[in-house]
Amino acid sequence: MKAAIILAGGKGTRMKSDSPKVMCEVIFEPMISYVVSAVKEAGVEDICVITGYKHEVVENYLEKLDSNIKTALQEPQLGTGHAVMQAREFISGHMEDDILILNGDGPLMDADTVNKAYQYHKDNNNAITLISAVVDDTHGIGHIKRDKNGTLLKIVEDKDATEDEKKIMEANAGVYWFKGEELLYAINNIKNENAQKEYYLTDALEILIKRGRNKGAYVCENSEAVLGANDRIQLMDLNTIMRRNINNAHMLSGVDIPCTDGVMIGKKVKIGNSAQILPNTIIIGETEIGENCVIGPNCYIKDSKIGKGVILDNCKILDSTIEDGVDCGPFVKVRADSVLKKGVHIGNFVEVKNSIVGEGTKSAHLTYIGDSDVGSDVNFGCGTVTCNYDGKNKTRCKIGDGAFIGCNTNLIAPVEVGDKAYIAAGSTITDNIPEEALSIARAKQVNKEGWVRKKKPYKEK
Ligand code: UD1
Ligand code: CA
Repeated sequence: MKAAIILAGGKGTRMKSDSPKVMCEVIFEPMISYVVSAVKEAGVEDICVITGYKHEVVENYLEKLDSNIKTALQEPQLGTGHAVMQAREFISGHMEDDILILNGDGPLMDADTVNKAYQYHKDNNNAITLISAVVDDTHGIGHIKRDKNGTLLKIVEDKDATEDEKKIMEANAGVYWFKGEELLYAINNIKNENAQKEYYLTDALEILIKRGRNKGAYVCENSEAVLGANDRIQLMDLNTIMRRNINNAHMLSGVDIPCTDGVMIGKKVKIGNSAQILPNTIIIGETEIGENCVIGPNCYIKDSKIGKGVILDNCKILDSTIEDGVDCGPFVKVRADSVLKKGVHIGNFVEVKNSIVGEGTKSAHLTYIGDSDVGSDVNFGCGTVTCNYDGKNKTRCKIGDGAFIGCNTNLIAPVEVGDKAYIAAGSTITDNIPEEALSIARAKQVNKEGWVRKKKPYKEK
């Protein structure tokens, strides 16, 4: 069985954030979510996260993510070795197993790398296998020190390194496989004799070498996998890499992104073949986009299901379902569990909230459809408003199939418009309209002949 410990107790002082560092986001998801996903994808069944600074924030998040994840509290936070010491009980339950340890602030570590390192660990019967990579910038990392034959000696933290050691470009990823029993031995022997007076997990390597155990470093080809974020500039770098990785994966699977500028796609998003994603489009959460859609430019889509062949141009779509062949935009907002059924057309400056809009219905301009059940093939004239809120309560409008709503109509909810009813422009509808009726609810026009000539209401030139 494989087990994992994820270190997430640190404050992340350099982020200058109110939340714990592992909750800082990469493509709108906390860094730790990527680490948890990679660990699960690598087939690890039992996970323990070490929490510390603002632990309740991390615990609440993990509870929602997966309630099987265990946590152990580290207070105060005295270093990565000290963090693992808080998981003694967890480790004791896995003495015969292999335990993976990862930094919660390293979201680019992937399951493939973790699994290759595991294979290497097993093949060599190692007590400890660390993951390393040759990087361009070693600022703030642990340098992997080897003897002239390349045999591992120890990990030297940048802050403790001599000038010569600082030149070593092989970096410790902060990801390790341990034999359970050897991990327990190591953490029982870690001391805090270093520049920061911290208990370094990295000292486990030397401790197990002294114990005469096998050790190894799995040097990963993808040096980006080892990157972490300690400040917001590094966080932006991780966003850039993650964004590129996700966009590339979609392009390779047949999504057309002719220009990736401003295109940010969340890790859980699914996009169908031959869909086109245009600049400045953010798609996040549990969103699915069907084949042959054109999404963008300038769309923001969250937790929504978009059917096939949908066109969204400058739209904000939140928690909603957009069925096949719908055409929205520009400047459209659809939110709060709305459903736009097949072939609906929603044009410029229209908002739909908590409403179901039936097949083929059209609302081409300047309209608010809120808390409404709209039938199929309804035509909304320009400037229709469903008046769904009386200052205290929200109530619904029901509009039957084939109804025609004239321009500038107010529908005062609760109200029902029958099938194929016809509302004259400028009406304020307060009473239900039977099917196929014409409703006119506006003052009758009065023309007063010659009134202007007699009154001269304005100054003549
Ligand atoms: C650590 C490694 C370094 C490696 C680097 C890779 C040590 C001593 N150093 O350094 O060799 O190159 O990661 O990114 O391990 N944490 C706790 N409790 C603590 C301190 C930290 O839970 O008391 C957690 C943090 O929340 C973070 C992780 O451990 O998720 C790493 O801590 P951090 O302080 O960022 O370590 P680095 O200095 O980056
Ligand atoms: Ca770090």
